Amino acid sequence: MLKKIIALAPMADYTDQPFCLLCREIAGQDFVIYREMVSSEAIVRGNEKTLKMCELDRRERPVILQIFGDKPATMARAAKIITERFRPDGIDINMGCPVPKVAQKTKSGVALMRYPDLAVEIVKAIKAENLGVPLSAKTRLGWSDDREILAFAARLEDAGIDRIAIHGRTKTQGYSGVANWQRIAEVKKILTIPVIANGDVRSRADIEKCLAITGADGVMIGRAALGNPWIFRSIVDRQWTVERHPTTSEVVQAVLRHAELHLAHYGERGMVTFRKHLAWYFHGERAVGISDVKKIRAELVRVSTIGELKDILSSVA
Ligand SMILES: Cc1cc2nc3c(=O)[nH]c(=O)nc-3n(C[C@H](O)[C@H](O)[C@H](O)COP(=O)(O)O)c2cc1C
Repeated sequence: MLKKIIALAPMADYTDQPFCLLCREIAGQDFVIYREMVSSEAIVRGNEKTLKMCELDRRERPVILQIFGDKPATMARAAKIITERFRPDGIDINMGCPVPKVAQKTKSGVALMRYPDLAVEIVKAIKAENLGVPLSAKTRLGWSDDREILAFAARLEDAGIDRIAIHGRTKTQGYSGVANWQRIAEVKKILTIPVIANGDVRSRADIEKCLAITGADGVMIGRAALGNPWIFRSIVDRQWTVERHPTTSEVVQAVLRHAELHLAHYGERGMVTFRKHLAWYFHGERAVGISDVKKIRAELVRVSTIGELKDILSSVA
């Protein structure tokens, strides 16, 4: 069996450089990182904050930059700019984001599923730039009907897309219900390009089940990786037997390392934006055996300095 692709899903405000570097330090190179989406319009305008979001460290490789937008020429220009400037291992088009700012105010994100001609135009415009790296798309099953993906994915393949990742829900579903892996299996059967299945993969057992059901070429993991870079360590061992959860002391060390990377990237005031990560570290298996974990979580989401963080964590280990 060919080696399957394992990917960290793009997550706005989360899969930034500090988090991606931490995932690499903890889990090695054997999975693909998708960075958070960036606006093609902002890139073309030369917006400094957006360009900084695309900066890559070679230790993050293989790493893919994801862009969103609804104007073929702008998308193509943005793809060219960031490929030349940051040398990612691939460019991904966001065709799945449901937030109103993206998918309702404009035809970007999942709205492209309602405008397949436009989606095709975007793919062709970017391909015409001859970027020299693969071009992929990340979609959902549809806007409201979970069969839309069948015709949509086939059109993207015809337009020249090199790989597709599919979140097994529609826009209307949002994050409710359960990801429909059966539908992804149907898409996989009609395409020749690699298909990555996404949605509700939370463990090694889920990966096996998702791959068995979808027949996909890989899986992409989003929320289950938040505060949990160890998920990739367990998976990339490729032994498919026991899930290796981190010890409490490993969690504490990782939080401190993540904070260090985050502050180095965003500056001293970065501790406020670090809070959203902290909320995820002491959850599920990682909370087992920690006394007063609720109180600790409540303290962590109010932390403002690295000193405060260290004080709180000293009571955990
Ligand atoms: C906080 C958050 C931010 C997200 N941002 C993006 C994004 O920037 N681009 C994208 O294609 N999908 C984005 N997604 C969707 C995820 O990549 C993924 O498709 C979704 O969470 C389902 O996978 P999961 O069940 O493994 O979490 C985001 C999801 C979350 C929870």
